[in-house]
Amino acid sequence: MSDERGSSRSVVERARTVIPGGAQTGLRAQAYDLGEIAFSGATGTTLETVEGETFTDYHLAFGPVVLGHGHPEVDDAVTETIDEGVLYGAATTPLEVEVAERVVDLLPSAERVNFCNSGTEATYHAIRLARAYTGNDRVIKFEGCYHGWHDYVDVGVYPPKERIGEKHPESAGMLPEAVEHTEVLPFNDPDAVEAALEEFDDVAAVICEPIPHSVGCLLPEEGFLASLREATAENGVPLIFDEVITGFRHSAHGIQDEFGVTPDLTTLAKAMGNGYPVAAVCGREELMAQAGGDNTSGVVISGTYSGHPVGLAAARETLRLLDEESVVEEISALGERYREGLEGLFAEHGIEGRVVGYGSVFAPQFGVTGEPRRYEDVLRLDEATFEEFARRMRERGQFFTPNPYKRQHLSWAHGEAELEGYLAAADEVLGSMMGT
Ligand SMILES: Cc1ncc(COP(=O)(O)O)c(C=O)c1O
Repeated sequence: MSDERGSSRSVVERARTVIPGGAQTGLRAQAYDLGEIAFSGATGTTLETVEGETFTDYHLAFGPVVLGHGHPEVDDAVTETIDEGVLYGAATTPLEVEVAERVVDLLPSAERVNFCNSGTEATYHAIRLARAYTGNDRVIKFEGCYHGWHDYVDVGVYPPKERIGEKHPESAGMLPEAVEHTEVLPFNDPDAVEAALEEFDDVAAVICEPIPHSVGCLLPEEGFLASLREATAENGVPLIFDEVITGFRHSAHGIQDEFGVTPDLTTLAKAMGNGYPVAAVCGREELMAQAGGDNTSGVVISGTYSGHPVGLAAARETLRLLDEESVVEEISALGERYREGLEGLFAEHGIEGRVVGYGSVFAPQFGVTGEPRRYEDVLRLDEATFEEFARRMRERGQFFTPNPYKRQHLSWAHGEAELEGYLAAADEVLGSMMGT
């Protein structure tokens, strides 16, 4: 096989012959709709194709890259760590202790921490801990919330209109019993949660994204998260906050700190490692201690690569910077300016739509107005117009996923120049789309 990178088109053609769908995930393959792209470089805010074409990146790999691509302090920490040794797989390491201590210091809910490599593993572990603790099986989740691809939670995430309110499995091949044991409720509806907790006496956990960014941005209404805390506590059911997106991107202390609601268990991934594979489940000592056995008793949390030094070195530096520098304040303030700028352009060009978001996350949505409260409110958006917007923005060097239900992200590397470039491109694109 040749070492030459070839053209994006040739890489995509080869990919399609050896990789199902031509990319590692279906959502990544979707970027092909914008043209045939293969990426081979990323620095700061810039993504580079194999031909050397560059884009300002607002996708940021679905959000992890909170400091910017290739942040030198994070990358140096990784290099120094692997110079010492790559994997030990026995006993403990000073590095895992240091990162666990940082997580315990930062997050209100974290008394004990277990590391793993993906958000999916973290939510799986959290649910297993909750099931073991309660002796119950049923999981309550919310429509539009994504918690990874395992059978326990990949239900009612993006159901089509006609399946709203049902236990809609997102994948073929899922175990029917797992789907059956997952209740899907509308977000922002405390009465539905109370009713479900009353109806079922076998609930093991309530799991939610405190801000469901998996469908752009649904903001929790005043008191909703507190009502979850209250109802679960009353019923002896562990509350799991899936902070895989919100954790560290919206606050170094988790969105739980900002919203003043402390769950029993929290799952973390994405922003904690600035793009390196690292994730965690953490929470109350009583729940987490169930995993302290020897794999023959209690809850098994296992994994050859769990607590891998590469991810943990990245997490140590990323969390240090998030804790000690004003990263979150700066990217959140910039996010506000992107939202305001886009809203101004929507008004100027007479576009029916809205710009949703929080902190450093934003999502222009066409054909819908008003604040979305639940999944149904997002589903009504105009997909074709967003796809055209994404395509034309890419032609002007601005990259984000063409999936109209997803979101755009900012990193610490983004600044005035990127903001100006984005808004100038959006002005042109929206003007030409509207003929204004
Ligand atoms: C809120 C949330 N939870 C869990 C996951 C799963 O994480 P991973 O893709 O690392 O398995 C994701 C991924 O997008 C997510 O957004």
